[in-house]
Amino acid sequence: MKLTYQHATIRAAEADVVAFLVPRDKELFNEIGNTLSKVVPRFEDVLDIEDFKGKEGEVLALYPDGKMAASKVLLIGMGEVKYLSLEKYRRCGSLAVKRGRGTGIKTIGIMLPDAATMGADPQHSVEDIVRALAEGAILGSYKYDKYLTDRKHKESSARELTIFSTGKQDERVLKKILTETKVICESVFTARNLANAPGNEIYPESLAAFAEESGKRHGFSVRSWEKDEILQAGFGGLMAVSSGSARPPRFVIMEYSPGKKDVETIVLVGKGVTFDSGGISIKPAAGMAEMKMDMAGAAAVIGTMECVSRLKLPVSVIGLVPTTENMPGAAAFRPGDIVTHYGGKTSEIDNTDAEGRLILADALAYAVTFQPDAVIDLATLTGACVVALGQHAAGMMGNDDELIGQLKVAGDTTYERVWQLPLYDEYEKQIKSDVADVKNVGGRWAGAITAGWFLKKFIGDYRWVHLDVAGTAMLDEAQPYSPRGGSGYGVRLLTQFLKNRIAGRTPK
Ligand code: BES
Ligand code: ZN
Ligand code: ZN
Repeated sequence: MKLTYQHATIRAAEADVVAFLVPRDKELFNEIGNTLSKVVPRFEDVLDIEDFKGKEGEVLALYPDGKMAASKVLLIGMGEVKYLSLEKYRRCGSLAVKRGRGTGIKTIGIMLPDAATMGADPQHSVEDIVRALAEGAILGSYKYDKYLTDRKHKESSARELTIFSTGKQDERVLKKILTETKVICESVFTARNLANAPGNEIYPESLAAFAEESGKRHGFSVRSWEKDEILQAGFGGLMAVSSGSARPPRFVIMEYSPGKKDVETIVLVGKGVTFDSGGISIKPAAGMAEMKMDMAGAAAVIGTMECVSRLKLPVSVIGLVPTTENMPGAAAFRPGDIVTHYGGKTSEIDNTDAEGRLILADALAYAVTFQPDAVIDLATLTGACVVALGQHAAGMMGNDDELIGQLKVAGDTTYERVWQLPLYDEYEKQIKSDVADVKNVGGRWAGAITAGWFLKKFIGDYRWVHLDVAGTAMLDEAQPYSPRGGSGYGVRLLTQFLKNRIAGRTPK
């Protein structure tokens, strides 16, 4: 989608459809009514008949007379002014493109709220509003239709989005925001596409190849270890999990460096299980297909690598992706096996379906090599986390309150929210093993936390946060600007986190 900004009057705003944001407020309503009643025949009557009040999520299509460049107008309800938030603008942007879909509709416009429309929003800056509207509009236009061969199924979204303002804005600043927003959203699409891709398309080798291609295109370096190197390095967890699959594992190391000294190094680790059958502790058939998305953590890390490289953020970012299938083949690892991880610690396998933590253990132990200022891992790790938090927040655990706080802030800003779960000492004994340093499952209670505790056993001397994205990265139900399936969760969160971290270090 092409994004532009234009200064234009309502009449001259050139797009097939132009959307107006309408708050639920009588006075402001009158304001916009004054303007629109001049171009929409019987405007007041139509509003009455349709009973449009400006409630959040309400949409009304109107057809102006020939006095407007646009052939269709959308009124989009924003709810009460005092409850406006950037998230509401994202949702509104998404509604505009969704309702503006249709044959013949190539361009969509959204009028910025200002004096001539709904009145300026005193709580948010024009820059933030533009960013949120554009973000919602682009993200809302996503559809995974790669394998739909019948063209009719390929509903086309508008090709161009223009943000209009009747007032004078700083065009240069807004254009820069739009360019940046486009990069961020495209990186989210990378993550969504990877997660949604079926297991016969994305498997360890093809995921590694994707990362390599992406690195070449966007300017980060990528190395990928093959099976022999993984074995040599002593990644026993990754070797064990991959042993039941005909497809060999990979360990992908991505490095983005801004070419500046005195920058931080942040390591991102993503669980890359390209299909999780459960292995010998096999999963039930119902719902197993979803497990093609068990590499959504890796997808978010790759998406974020693309994003930071394209935005040229002044921070070094290392992306680590251990990737494998979890299959019950003849050579599969078994319950009762004992595995030696990178760094020498051992784990007893009680359930081969708790495989994510086994491959993350190797990668997290290896992360010390980079002397990171912080390590963040993302993993679709436990069903227990989905039971606890559903799809609206990722489970967050870690060893550093400041880092945890920074992710919380970035989560609230982007609405990719995180919620902390406690790694209290008392939970540790649930994963005690009689025969190894640790056991890979911790019983029925607090499953997301015992998984976090397992990871904690393998981290090095660094600040660390673990995000269990099982509920947020693979959606059972569509969200306002994300369909069912891969949501791309994590890309916006991590990008915002990195931007905040950079801003915090730069003296103003
Ligand atoms: N990939 C799953 C976790 C998962 C479940 C992600 C549902 C998304 C939706 C993970 O590998 C797994 O199977 N975890 C087990 C752990 C258990 C055996 C301790 C689980 O959550 O049941
Ligand atoms: Zn599993
Ligand atoms: Zn899994």
